[in-house]
Amino acid sequence: MELSDIESDLTSVLYTEEQIHAAIAEVARAVEVDYAGREPLLVGVLKGAVMVMADFARELKLNAQMDWMAVSSYGSGTKSSGVVRILKDLDTDLHGRDVIIVEDIIDSGLTLSWLLENLKSRGAASVEIFALLRKPEAAKVHVDVKYVGFEIPNEFVVGYGLDFAEKYRNLRGVGVLAPHVYS
Ligand code: PRP
Repeated sequence: MELSDIESDLTSVLYTEEQIHAAIAEVARAVEVDYAGREPLLVGVLKGAVMVMADFARELKLNAQMDWMAVSSYGSGTKSSGVVRILKDLDTDLHGRDVIIVEDIIDSGLTLSWLLENLKSRGAASVEIFALLRKPEAAKVHVDVKYVGFEIPNEFVVGYGLDFAEKYRNLRGVGVLAPHVYS
């Protein structure tokens, strides 16, 4: 789905498909240098990271494996409670692995700060993060993120994996959701 297909649901376009792909390619080039001679394990966090993972993994000119986790970031619908529950765990043994967590967005940072510690405690050789989007103004905890696509304002964004009530994940770009949609 194109951003123009749901124009009236958006107040603005943040990033087009082309801009997103350019940002992902830039991160891929950096990762190729940083991980030269190694085979990183890319860990995608469902469901939002599906699009970033698909594009990033294919853009990388390195052997890399993919695995997936599903976590519930929030207790009972309240944002940023800090409660993280594993709904689907990794299939891969992390001992000695170089892990790159792949995320669509860092909002409060609570999910990733928990995940980072959790994966480190499994004996990984290294754990780094690639987040396509980060909202610095929404941060509740500091998270060391090595690779970031874009820093964005604290607005309700959808598309490219990001949803509102499970809608808009299949948008090719990222846009700001219009208040009439969610209020
Ligand atoms: C989103 C996103 C991150 C998390 C970020 O996932 O994919 O995992 O929220 O928020 P935080 O920095 O405040 O912890 P969500 O729980 O909405 O699930 P989804 O990926 O299935 O949409």
